[in-house]
Amino acid sequence: MADSRSPRRILITGGAGFIGSNFVYHWHKSYPGDRIVVLDALTYAGNRGTLAPLDASENFRFVEGDICDRSLIDELLKTEQIDTVAHFAAESHVDRSILGPGAFIQTNMVGTFTLLEAFRQHWINADKPDTYRFLHVSTDEVYGTLSDTDPAFSETTPYAPNSPYSASKAGSDHLVRAYFHTYGMPTLMTNCSNNYGPYHFPEKLVPLMCINMLLGKELPVYGDGQNIRDWLYVTDHCEAIATVIQKGAPGESYNVGGNNEVRNLDLVKILCGLMDELAPTHGVTLPTNPCESLITFVKDRPGHDQRYAIDANKIKTELGWEPSVTVEEGLRQTVEWYLTHQDWWQPLLSPAYREYYETAYS
Ligand code: NAD
Ligand code: DAU
Repeated sequence: MADSRSPRRILITGGAGFIGSNFVYHWHKSYPGDRIVVLDALTYAGNRGTLAPLDASENFRFVEGDICDRSLIDELLKTEQIDTVAHFAAESHVDRSILGPGAFIQTNMVGTFTLLEAFRQHWINADKPDTYRFLHVSTDEVYGTLSDTDPAFSETTPYAPNSPYSASKAGSDHLVRAYFHTYGMPTLMTNCSNNYGPYHFPEKLVPLMCINMLLGKELPVYGDGQNIRDWLYVTDHCEAIATVIQKGAPGESYNVGGNNEVRNLDLVKILCGLMDELAPTHGVTLPTNPCESLITFVKDRPGHDQRYAIDANKIKTELGWEPSVTVEEGLRQTVEWYLTHQDWWQPLLSPAYREYYETAYS
């Protein structure tokens, strides 16, 4: 990225979560002169320790707080003279949205609305500078589901969300769109496919499988395992978001994907093979070997979307972004990361997490 840019003062919501924390590191490395303020409520999915190495940096500040807290946001925008918001904070797990949708409506819709209103006032108070940006991080799940032969989702695919999670994200996307069209506020949006990589909370498919292999626990595959997801290494997503902030046209949305469609069962088998191969090289004896023998088919997710696929042509042709990490390379690095960072994930297997796991998988 070019060096001629003016430094930004960026508020990153949800920066203690999976993608948010990777983005904080990515932005800090790319632009060490920029001010970074992280706002995160530290829900079960937020991890303060992930960002601890940045505490010594004078350009970094962590604030524990809720995106629904308007007065806190007003104060942060003003005192920190924020010109850019990268909005990651969300309830993000589809299975939890099925068990309890309320928190999803509150954070994803009311929280995003609160942020939009606060930023609109802040932007007006500053006389609407054309350098201000509000980037909303969204998902491909707002487009609904595809059959195995349908064309991939593009930015013009109609929204058809199927879970409380994706419906709450769709609602927030509509608000973001409206703030551009009604108020001219400089919003941007990204709709990305499934991410994987370091600092991913244990409840999601890739970390759950890696951790269960290390613990010798069953690998629960929903239904027949034939659902398809498109997988993108998390740092590629971070680079896409950074590119959109720097070069995206206000009011536009950009689909982001890895061009790596894999059936769930095939993905789990790849992870098993990598774990069998890599564990011994790190001195780890697996409780069960080969890992594939742990695969267990379990009850399907209600309303389980069959397939997601992304047409990422717009961000490629208009902004020059493309993924740089192959799925083979990325999955290998990820399995290695879970093998070598047990100190990061072990404490997350708390009594509350075990209770969730029992409820979700019993
Ligand atoms: P995550 O669940 O790992 O992290 C969410 C973070 O938001 C946590 O740190 C949590 O403490 C914080 N948070 C939750 N509610 C909050 C609130 N009310 N106020 C302040 N902070 C709050 O999520 P993730 O996987 O990193 O996803 C980040 C964003 O990217 C989400 O908006 C999600 O919809 C989107 N997204 C995720 C993926 C994916 O594959 N994980 C793909 C596309 C888009
Ligand atoms: O597509 C982007 C979305 O990807 C993001 O918006 C979400 O925040 C993120 O959580 C992710 O949603 P998915 O539902 O696709 O991810 P998850 O890891 O929960 O599941 C991936 C696939 O694996 C899905 O088809 C369900 C299946 N699965 C999941 C789990 C946790 C299983 O078969 N077994 C499991 O135990």
